[in-house]
Amino acid sequence: MKFFIDTANLNQIKEAQDLGVLDGVTTNPSLMAKEGITGDENIINHYKAICEIVDDNVSAEVIATDYEGIVKEGEALAALNPKIVVKVPMIKEGLKAIKYFSSKGIRTNCTLIFSPAQALLAAKAGATYVSPFLGRLDDISTDGLTLIEDIRLIFDNYGYETQILAASIRGPLHIVACAKIGADVITAPLSAITGLLKHPLTDNGLATFLADHAKASGK
Ligand code: G3P
Repeated sequence: MKFFIDTANLNQIKEAQDLGVLDGVTTNPSLMAKEGITGDENIINHYKAICEIVDDNVSAEVIATDYEGIVKEGEALAALNPKIVVKVPMIKEGLKAIKYFSSKGIRTNCTLIFSPAQALLAAKAGATYVSPFLGRLDDISTDGLTLIEDIRLIFDNYGYETQILAASIRGPLHIVACAKIGADVITAPLSAITGLLKHPLTDNGLATFLADHAKASGK
């Protein structure tokens, strides 16, 4: 399973990259705004900076919502760096644009997926990734993990190569649940990724090992 970090914060991206388990980054307009990145030039430079930190898979989201606008913006983003994956919303114009990008060999991440039907359409259009938003479904008392399961079943039924990128992850248990279902990728905040490391018995066990070693060494 690939691990992406869901942030536009360069320090957090560097920290996750240093862990040695990072496969990519997802951003969206809200995450860019949270970092105070505004204006076309700053946004472009920020994507370039992210691409310098990670090895591949930097999702950069289009702002346009019409077909021509999405294509123009997506092509410009893809031309910035071969690591860029063009992130396109699940709307009719977006679907058409995903089909176009797919025919041109430009990788896409179809975002704002909330139903198996939407994921099926994106896969048929040739999306590289679909991003079901697990946490936002949980937030409205709907089981987000069931959506991931349904998409997995549909993609496996037909051998779609589109990868399931479980997004809107809230914590480490979401990541483990996605791994059990067979999501191809998770994108999560740094806290959820580092949360995977933690277990009190590991900390207690290590403390005991070190104490026993010190005692045996006469320290
Ligand atoms: O990047 C898309 C998605 O992961 C957003 O997550 O936390 O805003 O629901 P969230």
